[in-house]
Amino acid sequence: MPEPRIIVALDFSSESVAWQLVNKLEPQLCRLKVGKELFTTAGPRFIEKLVSKKYDVFLDLKFHDIPNTVAQACKAATNLGVWMVNIHALGGRKMMMAAREAIPDSHTRLIAVTLLTSMDQSDLNDIGLQGTPQQNVERLARLASDCGLDGVVCSALEVAQLRQIVGNNFCLVTPGIRPIDACGDDQKRITTPTQAIMNGASYLVIGRPITQAQDPLLVCQQLNTEIALVCS
Ligand code: C5P
Repeated sequence: MPEPRIIVALDFSSESVAWQLVNKLEPQLCRLKVGKELFTTAGPRFIEKLVSKKYDVFLDLKFHDIPNTVAQACKAATNLGVWMVNIHALGGRKMMMAAREAIPDSHTRLIAVTLLTSMDQSDLNDIGLQGTPQQNVERLARLASDCGLDGVVCSALEVAQLRQIVGNNFCLVTPGIRPIDACGDDQKRITTPTQAIMNGASYLVIGRPITQAQDPLLVCQQLNTEIALVCS
């Protein structure tokens, strides 16, 4: 079976609600993303339980602090057995290199967030970042690659352009994915799973189209079938 490209976003406020979904899914068909809300509620033991059930876990805590603190946090994530962890590229070269050195060849992939997609030009102006959001995304992705990181999170609409800049071995993880027949929810700039993969995405972060589905496993299977068609 090909490796799953779907990462299901467990955007829940409680562990018990998260389990109701996880128990319907299968680790061969998807990976799981745990962010700040669920991690703060359910804690590291929850992550260990997901790992013990053979799920690959993306710990989406976006570390951003002094280099030593971020390095130790990344090491702690690796010790939990997570498959992927992320840090903010805006933490800079020293911070990213410290994180890389802390988990040099572990099985945990280390990726960066470039610019939060919630930030527009006026936010950049406010904090004194020059250039357009797109220019900042490209510069920060290059910097992350220079620091030896394994990839970045990016909008599916940025994938094709970034793929040209960072080459084929860099992991591009893309949220904002909606199946062709799904509603967009609050996502403004969305792409279908197959379009994102064709543009060069490595992994797709998908939340509500799976978590709110009547039959989440079926949606996962259907999306995997669609993805397999464009990958073959
Ligand atoms: O439900 P939906 O598919 O919109 O969930 C997308 C997930 O990806 C959420 O966990 C959201 O926080 C995350 N995300 C995003 N846009 C970004 C970065 C992360 O939607 N730019």
